[in-house]
Amino acid sequence: MPLPATLDRSRIPRHVGIVMDGNGRWATRQGLPRTEGHGAGESALVDTTYGALSLGVKALTVYAFSTENWRRPVDEVRYLMNFNRGLLERRQHELHEVGVRITFSGRRDWRVPRGVLKRMDEAAELTARNTALTLNIAFNYGGRAEIVDAVKRLVEDGVSAARVDEKAIASRLYHPELPDPDLIVRTSGEYRTSNFLLWEMAYSELVFTDVLWPDFRREHLFSAIEEYQGRDRRFGALES
Ligand code: IPE
Ligand code: IPE
Ligand code: MG
Repeated sequence: MPLPATLDRSRIPRHVGIVMDGNGRWATRQGLPRTEGHGAGESALVDTTYGALSLGVKALTVYAFSTENWRRPVDEVRYLMNFNRGLLERRQHELHEVGVRITFSGRRDWRVPRGVLKRMDEAAELTARNTALTLNIAFNYGGRAEIVDAVKRLVEDGVSAARVDEKAIASRLYHPELPDPDLIVRTSGEYRTSNFLLWEMAYSELVFTDVLWPDFRREHLFSAIEEYQGRDRRFGALES
């Protein structure tokens, strides 16, 4: 698929974050159970990942399960755990072949089934040396939890109050090697970020779209990037 001519190839965001929302509504609108919407989100994720690859985006962080999503009915939570494990099983090899490094952000707590953690470790290990694109899956992820975990590590490392600065915290986040996201996209017409990349999004550009996640494809990513390219990023100064 050709890239839109209006896209400036010299100003591609290095890191894009996506809040993949609207699966339940997508399914309900078609008279299907909510879980079918999660299933349909798989093609959206794969196509978007290929789109990011084709543009030379270096990192894509996708919000797959939040620390708040445990509040959902137990059947839906179970479905999501199995679904994410299955997705890795089905997709890790093809993603590996195209040079995608799969990483995870989130807590490995007792609530995440062992089989899921095992798959996550396998996918991360298989793809660890790939460099084309990092697909970082935010799973059992909360932005506040990430900051709490970083502060715990600061204390464990015996850092004195005088030495606590932004760098000391940022270097203890889940993936300090990734640049902060330049662009965050949220689907489904909700105008909030729901505890996603709280620290890292300090200066991210935000793009909201009404498209429900299962309908999202690379062209929606391209138009979000076009919108991003029209923004004037000032970082607190007067001109960028
Ligand atoms: C996003 O879709 C997927 C997860 C949060 C796991 P939702 O399940 O939140 O779908 P809606 O927002 O209810 O439509
Ligand atoms: C955010 O979506 C979390 C993920 C996409 C995984 P939610 O559907 O959980 O967010 P809220 O509840 O609408 O804020
Ligand atoms: Mg939702």
